[in-house]
Amino acid sequence: MPRPEEVLFPTRKERVGDRRKERQHRKVVDEFFDHPTLLAIGKLVNRGEFREVDFPISTGKEGGVFRATAADGYRAVKIYRIHNAIFRHLPPYVVEWVRQEVGATANAARMVFAWTRREHTILSRLVAADVRVPRPTACLRNVLVMEFIGEDGLPAPPLVEAVVEDPQALYADLVVQLRRMVASAGLVHADLSPYNVLVLRGSPVLIDVAQAIPVDHPQARELLERDAATFARYFRKLGVDTSPEAFFAASGGDHWAPEEAA
Ligand SMILES: Nc1ncnc2c1ncn2[C@@H]1O[C@H](COP(=O)(O)OP(=O)(O)O)[C@@H](O)[C@H]1O
Ligand SMILES: [Mg+2]
Repeated sequence: MPRPEEVLFPTRKERVGDRRKERQHRKVVDEFFDHPTLLAIGKLVNRGEFREVDFPISTGKEGGVFRATAADGYRAVKIYRIHNAIFRHLPPYVVEWVRQEVGATANAARMVFAWTRREHTILSRLVAADVRVPRPTACLRNVLVMEFIGEDGLPAPPLVEAVVEDPQALYADLVVQLRRMVASAGLVHADLSPYNVLVLRGSPVLIDVAQAIPVDHPQARELLERDAATFARYFRKLGVDTSPEAFFAASGGDHWAPEEAA
């Protein structure tokens, strides 16, 4: 197994003098790369999934996303923290699914592994349905490896931070992606927000899909309505003429029969 200091943020050695950054990186290493996670990273490196983890793109309570370098370009590596707390913020349908998957008495680690696998499976399903998402390339324990969404080594910004030159075009494209998600993949994203849509060369890329829900689930319709309401408000602020109802209908809401919609 490669030594962690060889694989994690190797460029920090070159940043002599940038103590603040170095301290930050060390903190991230301590927080995310515990021994079992390092073992998983080592295995992925040995399998050739990537060579090194370059730097954190995002670190949150539930996990972190890192840029990594592979032989043929970059990858995004998402690491879930092994912690029960991640399920505290998730809706009941998701916790129910995890418990069914690994058993009600499973420990936090097994639950988190199931969760990581779920994100991998859903991403694959979305790729097959031609929805624009990062293509997943590997999944081991609490580590998910996927296509890096970015340009020139820089991660694409989430919609909240992006400068949108043509909101109408982005809106229309997003509607197409969501429609495919419902009609071809049979899924509703269920946590759609301007944080979970990256903007790459003016086009939306959907991320953070682990909590997606099958369209035949009793709550699916309501969740698409909620996703639609969030986005309709957001796009109206950008000057797009839409409404929660219009966005819902356009992004797959017509999957549900009108009588169900009453
Ligand atoms: N495939 C990717 N390529 C580039 N950046 C990514 C990728 N996946 C996630 N990110 C970045 O990491 C952030 C957090 O990822 P996300 O999957 O939303 O995890 P979280 O559960 O922490 O919200 C995103 O907002 C985005 O900036
Ligand atoms: Mg997110």
